[in-house]
Amino acid sequence: MAGQRGTLVVLEGVDRAGKSTQNRKLVVTLCVASHRAELLLFPEISTEIGKLLISYLEKKIEMGDHSVYLLFSANRWERVPCLIRDKLDQGFTFVVDRYVFSGVTFIAAKESFSLDWCKQPDVGLPTPDLVLFLQLQLAEATRCGGFDQERYEDRDFQERALGCFQQLMQDLSLVWKTVNASRSIEDVHEEIRTLTEEAIHATAHQSLGAALGVGAWAMW
Ligand code: TMP
Ligand code: MG
Repeated sequence: MAGQRGTLVVLEGVDRAGKSTQNRKLVVTLCVASHRAELLLFPEISTEIGKLLISYLEKKIEMGDHSVYLLFSANRWERVPCLIRDKLDQGFTFVVDRYVFSGVTFIAAKESFSLDWCKQPDVGLPTPDLVLFLQLQLAEATRCGGFDQERYEDRDFQERALGCFQQLMQDLSLVWKTVNASRSIEDVHEEIRTLTEEAIHATAHQSLGAALGVGAWAMW
């Protein structure tokens, strides 16, 4: 496998769609299959910006919507170029829990933000090779106990975020795959694993240099 680049896989979905469970299982399965794979979650909480964002999500501090959005984007910029690009180049596959799509949709779901405005701060970040959208009826997602503890855990808000996700999926030229997340954990995992293996196979012979060149991976 020496010399082959890694693959950037992103899992998205509304809150409580099962992303965390699936991300962890996927990384373990890939490692067992001798891939070098790592998990990265956004917000990424090892940095000062990440800690600030967690306090905001836990409703411990208040901030204006514009500032929050720029901080979510800054949190990606402070981790992605150095960590992801170098390691992709070394052949690591990254499984990313939420990326620019959550950034855009969770702010666009608020009043007075257009999708176009929301896209701008993330322009230039690496484009994923595969985006998996875990689809779950909101009634199912919100049924779990404790839904309403975190800032965005509100049925109406999640409804609007889902609408924004759907609009983004239509607009983007990326490879989105919708995965029915209302099945058993194992069935969902099997589909995600298969799609990821296909993406790893498809990207293995692509040159990372060309793919990550400035502007070459323009997402929008
Ligand atoms: P999670 O741990 O449940 O995925 O929580 C992350 C929350 O942060 C979720 O409600 C979505 C939100 N979020 C944004 O609003 N913007 C972003 O850029 C990211 C990555 C997450
Ligand atoms: Mg949440």
